[in-house]
Amino acid sequence: MKLILIGEEHSRRTDYLKKAAGSLNIQLDVICWNKLQEDFPIKSLDNAFVKIDPPCYQTIRLSHMQSLLAEYQKTLQKLMQADCHFLNSPEAIWQLLDKKRTKEYLQKHNIPATQMFSEDIQEPEQLISQMHENHCYSVFVKPRYFSGAAGVAAFRIHPASGKMMLYTSCRLENKELINTKKLSKLSGCSEIIDILEKLLTLGCVVERWHPKADFRGKSYDLRVVFQYGHIAHIVVRQSDGPITNLHLNNQALDVQSLGLDAGMLQNIADICSRATAGFEGLNMSGIDILLEKKTMRPLIIEMNGQGDLIYQDIFGENNIYREQVEKVCRI
Ligand SMILES: Nc1ncnc2c1ncn2[C@@H]1O[C@H](COP(=O)(O)OP(=O)(O)OP(=O)(O)O)[C@@H](O)[C@H]1O
Ligand SMILES: [Mg+2]
Repeated sequence: MKLILIGEEHSRRTDYLKKAAGSLNIQLDVICWNKLQEDFPIKSLDNAFVKIDPPCYQTIRLSHMQSLLAEYQKTLQKLMQADCHFLNSPEAIWQLLDKKRTKEYLQKHNIPATQMFSEDIQEPEQLISQMHENHCYSVFVKPRYFSGAAGVAAFRIHPASGKMMLYTSCRLENKELINTKKLSKLSGCSEIIDILEKLLTLGCVVERWHPKADFRGKSYDLRVVFQYGHIAHIVVRQSDGPITNLHLNNQALDVQSLGLDAGMLQNIADICSRATAGFEGLNMSGIDILLEKKTMRPLIIEMNGQGDLIYQDIFGENNIYREQVEKVCRI
């Protein structure tokens, strides 16, 4: 069977999938994202095994990202017409990009997850009044469809004094939200309200800010790559601030160093298994999980249909990609 990657011509993802394919003597054909924008003959994918990697966006403007995402959705819809085996189907990829629908699914099926506000929140004033109503004074505000921590903000308000604090890696420049690779902590009310106002126009989910367990003085959460029914890799992401994404200067740790017991690892695997079972066409998922401080209860933060790029794995054994290629040999 033909193995096809839809992705970038040169990227870590492409290079290491190629490497995995090469080590198993399988040829990998790469179709670049920009080719799919043109009149691409979708029939050429028929009967192949196809992996869809995310396109690389160069923009730092969040409003521009929003329009690129709309184009991405259109391309995924086009790919849905192909008669091939997908590692993850375009439908599943798009479903997981939607943080709201994914969280609703998890909540409906009692799969442990961070708690999302049910209200559709569009303005800072409404956000603050909902926080009072829900007696929840620390929240995460996250654009519904974004990834890579773009626009993710951790917001806290003191219920009596109204004093505010916001952690985010985006900032306002000429009234536009810009994504940066550096987390800032803001405490000026008017600046915070201005950022929240812009952010909420993008369409956001609001969640309870769950405190994370810590290890050697830093809080952490886990990125679990769950594929074909088992945990392929866990990376621990340790941070000083509330947002742990590794490109924000946070540290990756080996999961062994946490000394989690076998029961905890089994519990995490069961949660991942129940979560992925709900999405047809999903064979691999990068699942972010936090262990709640004090209770150590694992909660799913979010699921990524393209969350399998783990530097600790590709620069080591490259097991995640190798297993994906091995599947081709068995179909
Ligand atoms: N409800 C929450 N409670 C505590 N921490 C959270 C919560 N939601 C998000 N975070 C923190 O913020 C980070 C980014 O959030 P999330 O993973 O939802 O965004 P993302 O942009 O989709 O990230 P990526 O696509 O890179 O995984 C999480 O990894 C976690 O550290
Ligand atoms: Mg994430």
